[in-house]
This record gives sequence, C-alpha cells and structure tokens, in this order.
Amino acid sequence: MTEQATPVVVVGGGLAGISFASALRQGGYSGPLTLVGEESEAPYDRPPLSKAFLKDADEQKIRLDVSRLADVDVLRGVRADAIELAARSLRLSDGQRLPWGTLVLATGARARDLPALQGTARPVFTLRTMDDARRLREALKPGCKVLLVGAGVIGLELAATASELGGEVTVVEAQPRVMARSVPATLSAYVQQRHLAAGAQLHLSRRIVACFDGGVELDDGTRVPTDLVVAGIGVQSNDELAQAAGIRCNDGVEVDGFGRSSAPGVLAIGDVARQVEPVSGQVMRIETWSNAQMQGAAAARAWLDASAPPYAENPWFWSDQYELRIQGVGMPAGERELVRGDVASGRFALLQFNGDRLVGAACVNNARDFGALRRLVGRRFDATDAQWADTADLRKIA
Ligand code: FAD
Ligand code: APR
Repeated sequence: MTEQATPVVVVGGGLAGISFASALRQGGYSGPLTLVGEESEAPYDRPPLSKAFLKDADEQKIRLDVSRLADVDVLRGVRADAIELAARSLRLSDGQRLPWGTLVLATGARARDLPALQGTARPVFTLRTMDDARRLREALKPGCKVLLVGAGVIGLELAATASELGGEVTVVEAQPRVMARSVPATLSAYVQQRHLAAGAQLHLSRRIVACFDGGVELDDGTRVPTDLVVAGIGVQSNDELAQAAGIRCNDGVEVDGFGRSSAPGVLAIGDVARQVEPVSGQVMRIETWSNAQMQGAAAARAWLDASAPPYAENPWFWSDQYELRIQGVGMPAGERELVRGDVASGRFALLQFNGDRLVGAACVNNARDFGALRRLVGRRFDATDAQWADTADLRKIA
C-alpha cells in the first residue's frame, strides 16, 4: 500500500510533476501540496520544442494546463539540493528546508553531452529546455549548415525542422540505421528515405573524432563543414538527488507499479523513474510524454486509493518529421513483422509479433489504426495474417 503521509512535496515542474499534483487535487486531496521546480519558466510542454516552436515561437501554445494547481504552493526557480530521509525534509537551493510526508521525484532527464565536440569553434547545442529552443531558434538561419549528431527522435525532428527553415542538413549517427532505439528496421529505412529525399546528408555507422575550424571530422576521414552543431544523442536521468540519499537507482530511480521507490514515502515518476515495461517485462526508463502524464497520474491515484491497480499502460510515443506522423507502441521489434496498408502510400502500420502475441506496432500517418493498436498490444490473438491486413476496424479483430 502507498503510504498516505503528508505534506506532499513534488520535485520537478515538468509534465510528470504537474500530472501528479493535478491528479491528486482532482482526486480530492486538499491537504498541503508543494511543487518545487528549478526552471523559472511557467510549465511548458517539451515535444513542440523540436517541432512547431522552432518555427512559430509561440510560447503560449505550449504552456501546460495548470488549472488544477491554483491552491498548490509552487516554488519556481528553486532547486532541491538534498533529500534528508530520516528527518523527512528536503533542502532547497534558497536555504529553506521543506518537511514532507510523501516526496515525489519528477526530476526528469537531461540531454547527454558529446565530449568529442569540445574544441569546435562552432556553437554546440543540445535541446531539452525552452531556453535551449530559444537559442537554437536564433541560430537556425536559412542557408545555415546544420549538423545533427544522433539520428534518434530529437536529431531527426530537428533535421526536418531545420530543413523546413532553409537549413542545409547533415546527420551523423553511430548506429547503422536511424531511430534504432524506437522503431523497427523497416520503418528506419522508410524514414531515412524521407530525409534523403529532402536533401539531408546521412552518415550512418559514423562518429565524430575531431573538430576543426569550420567543421568536424568523422571516423572515416570525412570532413563535414558546419555552422551549427546539435547533439541529440540520448538523455541521462536526473537521479542524483535520490542516489545521494541512498535510494535504489540505476540510471533512474527504481520504482514499482505504484511509483514507490526503495525509500518509504518517496515516489518517482516520469522520465526519472525506472520501471517494468509491461509488454517486454524489461525494467527501463520510459522516456515518453504519455508515460510522464499517465504514470504520474496513476501514482497519484494509487496514493489516494490503496485499491488502485498498478500502472500497466502500454508505453507509446509519437514523432513528427516533415509530413510523417510516426507513432509507436510496445516493443520496437518482434520475431515477425506484418505490414498493414501500403507502405508506398505513406499510410501504413507495422505489426510486431512474438508467436501469436502482438508485442508492438508502429504507424505512419495512421492515427485510426494506432488508436486501436495501442490497446491490442500485449495480447494474444488467433487472427490470421489476412485478417490483420484486411479488417477495416482493428478494434473488431478476432
Ligand atoms: P521533464 O520534462 O524533464 O521535467 C523535469 C523537471 O524537473 C524539469 O523542469 C527540471 O528542471 C526539474 N528538475 C530537475 N531536477 C530538479 C531539482 N533537483 N529540483 C527542482 N527541479 C528539478 N515524447 C513523446 O512521446 N513524443 C515527442 O514527440 C516528444 N518530443 C520531445 C521533444 C523534445 C525536444 C524533448 C526534450 C522531449 C520530447 N519528448 C517527446 C519527451 C517528453 O517531453 C518527456 O518524456 C517528458 O517531458 C518527461 O517529463 P518529466 O516531467 O518526467 O521530465
Ligand atoms: N555519435 C553519433 N550518434 C550517437 C552517438 C555518437 N557519439 N551517441 C549516441 N548516438 C545516437 C544513438 O545511436 C541514437 O540513435 O543518438 C541517438 C539518440 O537517440 P534517442 O535515444 O532517441 O535520443 P534523443 O533523440 O536524443 O532523444 C532524447 O527526447 O523525445 C525524447 O523520448 C526521447 O527521451 C528521449 C529524448
């Protein structure tokens, strides 16, 4: 059972922290609730930072809904510096000590730095915060030679956005295919073609080994001239606070299905939480918007109600690149792949099976199938391949 001790203090004012606090109030908790966030900015959504925000700079459009936080003590521009477990207090950067009965860690993750880029005369960016996006927006001028390091979701979304803004795009990726962490090989190939068609230069299975004035050198000797470098090479969790307090961590705070860490009264949610992924059974951090929102809210519901079920939503994500809306749920790849729809038409779904179990699905411009697949993933079916391919409404699959 989740211990229902108060006051409740949430560290981190991103999506997970806001979702937890909102769900707590929505669920009827009217006791003391404080949210501590180191960013001075009013809470905002991160996904648009690599997409629309770089084009329209509309800050209002990306603010998170904080309507349920009216009676929450929100401390902005204040960092939590230490957790004092025995005393159940939190030391803040402004010198305050906040007592807590329940402490919720929603500290998220930060972009990994690439040491190989030190020494370049060109600006090197990462993208995690609104300030990062503001700086990047200033730098992304038409005709600018932009080098993206990493062909994951951030690198490729930025490649598309930079190209749409008139940049000349080059992408360097260490793996032999793009988006290898999150999509099957078939989809990597499709996405790769789209970027090549837009004129991007792709260097796969390559790393940067040196910087020179005006560019970088790759490990095959290629010299890439560049005005601007952005590293999108993954994130690391902000779990140091928990680590220093002796809470069990492993690139992320280890939690159970109720968001509970190894320390009584301490929960962790969102990007910083390491949890069981329900389809594969693997323990991992789930770095997606939907997880931050849903797991955050689920932990609050479990705090309010001892009979609430453990969190077991199929993890899903989306990524927008050019006209492609890519959506994925469950495992990126299974033992067998089935194509639904026509890849050439630009609207299709790739279904992944292990035996008769649907373990994952990835869709391109196919929100209707995706809506159904999100719920079907994880289950066993006796449907034939023809049924999977033909059934108009997947919710009706046998
Ligand atoms: P965060 O959003 O990282 O928030 C954590 C907050 O805690 C931060 O404000 C941080 O400053 C604060 N904090 C950290 N340490 C402390 C401390 N000691 N004291 C006080 N405050 C602290 N996901 C998708 O599914 N689809 C997408 O298209 C997509 N696009 C993305 C694009 C970009 C550019 C980025 C950066 C992410 C994207 N994501 C996307 C991922 C998604 O935004 C994250 O999974 C989500 O933001 C995680 O929310 P969170 O609240 O757990 O962490
Ligand atoms: N050189 C080139 N490529 C590299 C290097 C390197 N030294 N190191 C890592 N990479 C590549 C990885 O192989 C991978 O393809 O960078 C890519 C990183 O991709 P992701 O793991 O998808 O991370 P990123 O795109 O940075 O996204 C970070 O934002 O949207 C969220 O969910 C997303 O939490 C994730 C975060």
